[in-house]
Amino acid sequence: MSINDVIVLITVVTFTLALSTTVVTASCGVQAIPPSTSLPGTAIVGGAPATPHSWPWAAQLKFQGNHYCAATLIHPKWVVTAAHCTQEIWVGFSKVHLGSHSRDQIDVGKEVQIGQIKTYLIHMKYTYTSVDDTVLNQVVVPVIGVNVCNSTQMYDGYIKDGMFCAGYAEGGKDACQGDSGGPYQVARSDGSWELYGLVSWGDGCAEPNRPGIYTHIPTYVDWINDVIAST
Ligand SMILES: *[C@@H]1O[C@H](CO)[C@@H](O)[C@H](O)[C@H]1NC(C)=O
Repeated sequence: MSINDVIVLITVVTFTLALSTTVVTASCGVQAIPPSTSLPGTAIVGGAPATPHSWPWAAQLKFQGNHYCAATLIHPKWVVTAAHCTQEIWVGFSKVHLGSHSRDQIDVGKEVQIGQIKTYLIHMKYTYTSVDDTVLNQVVVPVIGVNVCNSTQMYDGYIKDGMFCAGYAEGGKDACQGDSGGPYQVARSDGSWELYGLVSWGDGCAEPNRPGIYTHIPTYVDWINDVIAST
């Protein structure tokens, strides 16, 4: 069991670069390259490769070229990720990559933006007690109600306010290590996408009765807006 390891809230990282045209020409939550909607159903388990560059707000945190966490662009200078990802951030050395398709290589000639991490802020409620795929994948997983997820069959009381669960009771599809900090996004009726959660933690990957746990963005949206407004 690793569920005590990471009780995760949000980190925001300053992003200091000109944005790619694929980001700035689309409005917030609308992509220039439509995503794949055929989703057969690995980091992500049971997923499928995303259409290249179809999630222009998908970001990666890298140190010396190695991917260690995912993140999401929410503002020209800010990305959000899971708080435990800050364990591996070295200010001045860690980079944010935006517009990648390959997880471990730089897509030469594509509109990959690389930003220096300037600073980050961790939400006050974060506590940390201790603690692979080659392209960026996507997977569809439904939200599991807190009563079910917090029950003895699943996470037995470990689900706290500000978290939610998504996946399948039978397992088979899930986020996994390396996906941490990545987006859980929901389609709005107007066709745009809303950031609803961040991949936070889970016990193993895609195991039965062990769905993924996500940070619930609406719980933290006021804090995010305050941080952005105050800088
Ligand atoms: C999950 O169960 C624990 C133990 O009963 C409780 O303290 C906690 O508030 C529950 N989580 C949620 C989100 O209701």
